Amino acid sequence: MEQVYLNGRFLPLSEAQVPVMDRGFLFGDGVYEVIPAYGGRPLRLPHHLARLDDSLAGIRLANPLTAAAWERILAVLIEPFPKIQDVSVYIQITRGVAPKRDHAFPVGVNPTVFAMASPITPPPAVWLEEGVAAVVLEDLRWQLCHLKTITLLANVLLRQTAVEAGAVEAILVRDGRVTEGAASNLFVCREGRLLTPPKGPALLPGITRDLVLELAERHGIAWGEEILPLATLQDASEIWLTSSTREILPVTRLDGRPVGEGKPGPIWRRLWALYQDYKDHLRRGEPDEP
Ligand code: PDD
Repeated sequence: MEQVYLNGRFLPLSEAQVPVMDRGFLFGDGVYEVIPAYGGRPLRLPHHLARLDDSLAGIRLANPLTAAAWERILAVLIEPFPKIQDVSVYIQITRGVAPKRDHAFPVGVNPTVFAMASPITPPPAVWLEEGVAAVVLEDLRWQLCHLKTITLLANVLLRQTAVEAGAVEAILVRDGRVTEGAASNLFVCREGRLLTPPKGPALLPGITRDLVLELAERHGIAWGEEILPLATLQDASEIWLTSSTREILPVTRLDGRPVGEGKPGPIWRRLWALYQDYKDHLRRGEPDEP
């Protein structure tokens, strides 16, 4: 059994326990990160650690570890996996275990720091061959969606509603504008251009999102960051969802209607191949740049 990291120690998952007074358990008071690794190398670790810093600053919690310490922890967690296995590392930091339940921050309490690695299950082949279904739902989350907080109940309910409708993701709309998926960022193609909503408090600044834009730029694919009114989804030739664990998924059915020609489109095919090349180049030990 792989080892996990908890508060300064590596130990088997079955032995990793957190007291019920932990603020993560009582209040969802914490943040997290999900970092994929290919060939034993984390993808864009500095970007993930920078986002972790931003999330921690957003909830007014100091980062308990240096970047070098995080890097060492990831290396220990990833090391037992065979190099051919893609791995995702989950990091969670909560405000710690307080002596009593009180909404206000406790004083003199150490954060709880947890990390584990698990194999990435590749998306089923049929998702890439035929695309996936998504549904549009009202974004009922809060106003700090740019922070990667563990308070995910709204995302959980939205994803579950999508699953019960036979879809793999919910595409969220706030004030008539598309924001992102329940656990992914959103792209559309219109008139040959790749578009995604600009960063801001309404969506998580996805590391995969930024990498897709960098790959598009480098390979001459026209792209833009634009506010996307809901109607954009209706006349998009392609819709994609991106995340660290699902990479780039083509959405070919939206609310039961076909997207574009109802099959994965040519721009998706191009970007997906570029993303696979990027992973291969990481696996070969080349620099982590597009
Ligand atoms: N979620 N938006 C939301 C709300 C997300 O939860 C995620 C990822 C993304 C994509 O971010 P990235 O490309 O950095 O993975 C966008 C992770 C995978 C999760 O919660 O497991």
